[in-house]
Amino acid sequence: MKITVIGTGYVGLVTGTCFSEMGNKVYCIDIDINKVESLKKGIIPIYEPGLEELVIRNYENGDLSFTDELKEGLDNSDICFIAVGTPMGEDGSADLQYVLSAAQEIGQKMSHDMIVVNKSTVPVGTAEKVKNTIINELKKRNVNYDVHVVSNPEFLKEGSAVTDFMRPDRVVIGSDDEEVINVMKELYAPFTTNHERFITMDVCSAEMTKYAANAMLATRISFMNEIANICERVGADINHVREGIGSDNRIGYSFLYAGCGYGGSCFPKDVNALIKTAEDYGYEPRILKETESVNNEQKYSLVNKIINRFGNDLSGCTFAVWGLSFKPGTDDMR
Ligand SMILES: NC(=O)c1ccc[n+]([C@@H]2O[C@H](COP(=O)([O-])OP(=O)(O)OC[C@H]3O[C@@H](n4cnc5c(N)ncnc54)[C@H](O)[C@@H]3O)[C@@H](O)[C@H]2O)c1
Repeated sequence: MKITVIGTGYVGLVTGTCFSEMGNKVYCIDIDINKVESLKKGIIPIYEPGLEELVIRNYENGDLSFTDELKEGLDNSDICFIAVGTPMGEDGSADLQYVLSAAQEIGQKMSHDMIVVNKSTVPVGTAEKVKNTIINELKKRNVNYDVHVVSNPEFLKEGSAVTDFMRPDRVVIGSDDEEVINVMKELYAPFTTNHERFITMDVCSAEMTKYAANAMLATRISFMNEIANICERVGADINHVREGIGSDNRIGYSFLYAGCGYGGSCFPKDVNALIKTAEDYGYEPRILKETESVNNEQKYSLVNKIINRFGNDLSGCTFAVWGLSFKPGTDDMR
């Protein structure tokens, strides 16, 4: 298949590269011209295990190309992925300016019917906004093309993004159009050969699924930090407790590490965006709010340990910070 991917960051670059590795022809688009030029020279702007080799191989064999010219990609593709950032806005909601500006540009430049796939993490209702934005632009041009907007949230983890994309736990597709779902199934078929990993649903549920997944994982971390704080007070060891509960297969070992709180480019913004969505719809999301507030307080727990050890006056002390990215295996310091 021929595919355009808008946004060549952690998600877009991995998505485009992995699709090209499976024999598709992929156009990776970015507005950051420096990024595009570096990629053409085989310089990968992010660290992600296994990615560099795949990018270089597929660029050299012509299946993967990089450009800042969206029209070139759209003219030659049937499917266009949107994988731009959705940072946290001032009120905690997801800032959709990059997604909607990508949608606007699609509407201004598309030259035939298209499936537009939203891979960015976006609140419920965004697929409709994307579709309306594209259609408005088509109307301005006095042209009429079929536009199907699909929600296909991404679950890859930085540090193992290539492996996660190549062997996903599941592929979630939100669409109510059977033909479009079949095209998406065909596209993802090489990644799901082992067993059926394809989950289809309506668009709103697919958009919600991504937030629910991140909120669940963030909640586990805050829960364990709370248990750790209790452990410290009663003389128990959180690591023993973690092993003791992780071995229960209803609970599992993942995301049970206590520490200084969750960070990175996704959990803080996604938990806040879900809180904002709930409030916009008149619901008070108590567990999500406590997940965030436990996480914020946990940072002080680390500072308090330092003060308890060295005293209130830290002037003259030298501290080493071991590990600047938010987790191992990535260079992402957001
Ligand atoms: N990073 C992750 O681990 C991860 C995992 C799953 C989902 N997501 C979601 O995927 C989305 C992208 O995240 P990311 O970490 O890849 O972001 P990123 O900031 O690394 O990359 C976004 C890229 O989009 C480009 N861009 C912005 N507007 C553009 C436009 N109009 N045209 C072309 N390019 C444009 C930027 O220059 C940038 O290179 C976000 O919604 C995020 O929440 C991220």
